[in-house]
Amino acid sequence: MSGNVKGCGGYSGGDGEQSAQHINKTVNIVVFGGSGDLAQKKIFPALFSLFCRNYLPQNINFFAFARTSLSQEAFRKKISSSLTCRYSPEQSHCKILVHEFLERCHYVSGQYDSGKSYDEIYAAIKAVSGGMPSENIFYFAVPSNVYMEIASGLICAENICEKELANSKLVLEKPFGRDRHSSDLLTEALTGVFDEKQIYRIDHYLGKEMVQNLLVLRFANLFLEPLWSKQYIEKVEIVWEENAGVFGRSKYFDDYGIIRDVIQNHLLQILALTAMEEPASLSAEDIRCRKVELLNSVKATLLDKTLTGQYGNAVYKGVMVSGYTDEQAIPDDSQTPTFARINFEIDNDRWHGVPFVISAGKGMNKSVTEVRVKLKAKGNSMFCSIGKCPEPNELVIRIQPNEGFHFKITTKSPGDKLNFAIKDLDLSYIRAFNNSVLPEAYETLLLDVICGNKELFISSDELQVSWDILMPVLRYLEEHKVKPETYPFGTVFPDSSK
Ligand code: BG6
Repeated sequence: MSGNVKGCGGYSGGDGEQSAQHINKTVNIVVFGGSGDLAQKKIFPALFSLFCRNYLPQNINFFAFARTSLSQEAFRKKISSSLTCRYSPEQSHCKILVHEFLERCHYVSGQYDSGKSYDEIYAAIKAVSGGMPSENIFYFAVPSNVYMEIASGLICAENICEKELANSKLVLEKPFGRDRHSSDLLTEALTGVFDEKQIYRIDHYLGKEMVQNLLVLRFANLFLEPLWSKQYIEKVEIVWEENAGVFGRSKYFDDYGIIRDVIQNHLLQILALTAMEEPASLSAEDIRCRKVELLNSVKATLLDKTLTGQYGNAVYKGVMVSGYTDEQAIPDDSQTPTFARINFEIDNDRWHGVPFVISAGKGMNKSVTEVRVKLKAKGNSMFCSIGKCPEPNELVIRIQPNEGFHFKITTKSPGDKLNFAIKDLDLSYIRAFNNSVLPEAYETLLLDVICGNKELFISSDELQVSWDILMPVLRYLEEHKVKPETYPFGTVFPDSSK
């Protein structure tokens, strides 16, 4: 079992609501990059939602650290604009909750390379927690090139004792490196000062409801089991589309591109959960083993058929949208792909010969993430003799938006004649669960960090093998200087069967 705290939920937490209320030590969450977009749009709103639901320990304090000089008041005002009461929409109550939450938020400004700044952080923590036994969670919401500065600052500070450090957790945001080599260097450097079990690498897709549901869909439904292999499955497509560009993150994106940005992490994780064998238990270790085992047998194939694209300007929904190279900080001759389609094969008994195709694109005509499991056509059907060969079935797992499962089946159209119709067995969450509010991925993941549940985080060996899978593609594209095809912003995803 992982270090799962009883009552905390997670995959292995069993029944009941997930909550960390029973944790009776003081918990301090320090967000580095605390004045940035991620902190403002995702981290503090998620903490606030957990706070509103009474899921957090009684004694919890939040700290933001950043280089921007801001007063406590200005910081609180800044984050308050993103706090919404999703779970308790009553306005007067919401105001009280916002006030109570903000009282626990503190801001420290400083420099990442200054020892004095870390002394100030620890001093601020002590001042607020009154020297009670506490656990510190350090959230690195900053580019990975400052990770080591922060890690060293944290361990070298004057007023920190070893016990307190050993009780700390680090939460790291992707990207973890730019390739296998830089990722290994980062892992080595961090595990030189903190233990792997203290490190929580976030892939926020693992916190999404439907991604968690992949395990349940696959391993709690007997009817799928015999179908889930090369015998019945023709092809699996994992499709990720976003109808937005890279506005506001252009420098980062141009260094990384779509393959490193979403395929190396989110989409390979989805592939692993879709194709892996059943874990022996729900523990973090057993799930990790199955994912790594699967990823070790994945190979990118048809490198010369890897398709890459870059969005160009276009009129989209009546508005002129700039092309990728017109974005600020993007060189005119940038060859960074904003779209990629890569073919993979899985060399094991279950999947040998079944293509897994991952496509991901920004600047598309809609935002959607889906796994499309295409079954084989039924051979020797008696209906073929009357010219009505049934179409193959398809299971679509809709990760977002409008979460749900759709199973396309052939049915008889009502009436005297024998006519076929392709219809959906449709399990959409909204209907099936009476419009219940789904937790945001960051809420699930932050609560798991507090509780010490590691099932939804990326281990160092998953990270290594994910880079290994993609290195041949990245090398091929970079060595052959493959120029991405330009497509107009708002494009419909090109059909992968062509
Ligand atoms: C991030 C990528 O990891 O995920 C972004 O860096 C992408 O480029 C984002 O837009 C998508 O997340 P979500 O939760 O909106 O699907």
